[in-house]
Amino acid sequence: MAEAVGMALVGCGSGLPAVSLSNAQLGERVETNDDWIRSRTGIGARHVAGPGETVTSLASEAGRQALAHAGWHASDLDLILLATSSPDDLFGTAPRVQGVLGASNAVAFDITAACSGFLFALITASQYIRSGSVRRALVIGADQLSRWVDWDDRRTCVLFGDGAAAVAVEACSGANNGLLGFRMRSDGSRNGCLTLAQSEEHTSVVAGSQAQRGGFEPIQMNGQEVYKFAVREVPAILKDLLDGTGTSPGQLDWLLLHQANQRILDAVAERFAIPSERVLSNLARYGNTSAATIPLMLNEAVRDGRVQPGHLIASSGFGAGLSWGAALLRWGGPQATGASGGLTAAP
Ligand code: UT7
Repeated sequence: MAEAVGMALVGCGSGLPAVSLSNAQLGERVETNDDWIRSRTGIGARHVAGPGETVTSLASEAGRQALAHAGWHASDLDLILLATSSPDDLFGTAPRVQGVLGASNAVAFDITAACSGFLFALITASQYIRSGSVRRALVIGADQLSRWVDWDDRRTCVLFGDGAAAVAVEACSGANNGLLGFRMRSDGSRNGCLTLAQSEEHTSVVAGSQAQRGGFEPIQMNGQEVYKFAVREVPAILKDLLDGTGTSPGQLDWLLLHQANQRILDAVAERFAIPSERVLSNLARYGNTSAATIPLMLNEAVRDGRVQPGHLIASSGFGAGLSWGAALLRWGGPQATGASGGLTAAP
């Protein structure tokens, strides 16, 4: 395969659990209220996966929609990357998604980088595409953190929601390139700020040998430290990216950040003097869906017509690791590389 110059973003889709829980409903479980949650986070509701709904089922639905939008068959795919930190199977959930989709020609594997996962996976896909080894890929962000929150801890259980979203990407000429630049960072010295860690239980195998028992502790977060990290590092990495690509904030059509807290979105937008009409936010309905927030927001804005082909989008993901990243994207849409799909699937 000839070396591609770029990667076009040509389709998107989402998969959401049927049931949405309001802030008031959570107030029946823990001591909280709609006013506190909305004013501190911007969150009004979140979807929670029920029986029969899994990372595999949500991610597969997102993938199906993205394939339809791009006008592709599942057999066209060379690669499926699934960004998730709450897999159905620790050996990998992406192959299950590949199986459900029937993408028999695609290699499929998971990428774990918490809330930075989708951007890290998108950037990873671009490397395969630009090297010429992959032509068409599906990049999916999917998480079911409802599995791992302590439903009696009001500091964390109100924040997270479940969901999945996918973007179809394809090798293209330089003119259609949809990933104009990126930055990625990790800081393991601050790992303890936000963890979903192995529990410390052991089981005796034979005399003198103790093996660790598999299992994880619920999510632990130092909210204030993570908040400070986000409002410091996200503007810094975005500025580095914009400077490095010769882009001024005024040229951006949209700011698309990981949806963790409306106050973080507002602080970053203010730092670049980006007006609120150009800041994409759907926190109010979905909360923090971890690896899914960025593609979920992109999919919604593409399908309601806010994001148009050619629009320039500055995106940043950040969270556990700690990890963070930024990407300058140009939405292509189904026609970007001559694909024949359209907006026929349900949002
Ligand atoms: O996706 C990964 C990235 N994650 C993030 O970006 C999260 C970043 N952090 C945040 O968004 C915020 O720190 C939170 C939303 C998590 C918390 O907001 P905060 O303004 O930092 O609140 P706080 O933790 O300082 O808590 C203030 C008060 C405390 O009460 P006292 O000690 O002042 O009496 C909490 O116990 O609010 C209390 N509180 C609540 N009250 C009602 C904490 N959670 C709740 C709640 N309902 N759900």
